[in-house]
Amino acid sequence: MNDIDIEQWRQRADTALQRWLPAEKTLPQELHRAMRYAIFNGGKRIRPILTYAAGHALSLEAQSLDAPAAAVELIHAYSLVHDDLPAMDDDDLRRGQPTVHRAFDEATAILCGDALQSLAFFVLARHLDPQIPAPQRLQMVEALALASGSRGMAGGQAIDLAAVGQVLNVAELENMHVHKTGALIRASVKLGALCHPDIDERLLGQLDHYAKCIGLAFQIQDDVLDVEGDTETLGKSHGADLALNKPTYPALLGLDDSKRLANQLIDDALHSLAEWDEAAEPLRGIARYIVQRQH
Ligand code: IPE
Ligand code: IPE
Ligand code: MG
Ligand code: MG
Ligand code: MG
Repeated sequence: MNDIDIEQWRQRADTALQRWLPAEKTLPQELHRAMRYAIFNGGKRIRPILTYAAGHALSLEAQSLDAPAAAVELIHAYSLVHDDLPAMDDDDLRRGQPTVHRAFDEATAILCGDALQSLAFFVLARHLDPQIPAPQRLQMVEALALASGSRGMAGGQAIDLAAVGQVLNVAELENMHVHKTGALIRASVKLGALCHPDIDERLLGQLDHYAKCIGLAFQIQDDVLDVEGDTETLGKSHGADLALNKPTYPALLGLDDSKRLANQLIDDALHSLAEWDEAAEPLRGIARYIVQRQH
């Protein structure tokens, strides 16, 4: 993903997050320090970049996408802080640094996740572009809430924890991945599209199919990297899934078939954008990057 737009969007997302996260000096300082630590630690920012890229494909200005872009990253960062907790994946390393509960303490990490999640909805409520019709702004809040909760990411995480040590079939594994990771990636694209004042349902459907395919491919690649990557490049502990006895695509299908499936999903995602012009090129680039990435 070397595209100039993409680097600009990454910086834009960081600027928006800087603006909306309370300063470290704001009381309670420890909580605000933990929130900033969880956000400004080298994340790839794939989800906000997807929000900008979806808006760009529909000829929207980046400015109207800042709030949803920041909101999806806030939810994602919260999900990582909680995912790493001792009661969940019990990880010590995240984005190359000690996890939040290691750098601070467990209670602070729990509250940090809670507060990042609330901030996401505050940003949507307060900062969404007033040019976007009110019903669409409500639809965005609804889409993010659905993708984050028990019928989205949190539900997927519950399936993941219940599946430890179990042998899932392909359909069950897909269901787990589609929820824990796919839902938020799908929402990232949808929120970008909903910034369009008059989005066509057919185009929205094509974007959603694209997002569904890359969301699943993203978690398959995450599972592959857990096997093939090294801790330094990944910035998180290599081999964590095997150590925890997690059901993963490589464990079920083997590495070659997992990679083949991820590539097929990317082809399917690209096919969904077949009618789109060059404004959708960043979306195509992100899809290809998802299966080529090394971390
Ligand atoms: C990691 O997400 C967790 C998953 C949902 C697979 P990313 O790979 O996007 O993590 P960061 O944000 O770049 O650290
Ligand atoms: C995480 O899946 C999904 C989330 C909702 C955070 P993983 O547990 O595989 O993510 P990593 O590998 O720790 O980043
Ligand atoms: Mg996990
Ligand atoms: Mg984990
Ligand atoms: Mg993983």
